[in-house]
Amino acid sequence: MNKKLRDALNDQINKEFYSAYLYLSMAAYCDSMLFSGFAHWLKVQFHEEWAHGMKLYDFLVGRGEKVILKAIDQPPIKFTSSLGLFEQVYRHEQKVTGMIKRLGVISDEVGDSEAAVFLRWFVKEQVEEEENATRIIAGFKSGKSGSESVAAMDRKLARRKGPG
Ligand code: FEO
Repeated sequence: MNKKLRDALNDQINKEFYSAYLYLSMAAYCDSMLFSGFAHWLKVQFHEEWAHGMKLYDFLVGRGEKVILKAIDQPPIKFTSSLGLFEQVYRHEQKVTGMIKRLGVISDEVGDSEAAVFLRWFVKEQVEEEENATRIIAGFKSGKSGSESVAAMDRKLARRKGPG
């Protein structure tokens, strides 16, 4: 595999694990505020991000490449409000979408069609991730009064399926 692409894929493993860490930190914040539904949703997201990192890991191993794990940055530990937190989720996912698109550009540049096909799954996943966050933000904004709508959203997000 081309070195530039291999390095970029290794970096993306780190970014996905950072995303997992960020969402777990958000979950811990929500747990501390007794919003167990938000915390549950974020823990499911944590598992998803971890799985994204492992998908990249397995792809590199499958191609006979070396996986190099780097230090994971410390995520923020305080958040302004539950709506602010999910707006941050949305902004973070937009950033990740940009990273995935960049990986696609590198794959094309170096003519690695296998990597380009592999990355398509991530492109689709990012559409879903951004959509999920957008829906949650819209849910917050459509509620009657502030605290009522936050409690209703907490109950709603408690129903998310998945590990966590
Ligand atoms: Fe792995 Fe939320 O992108």
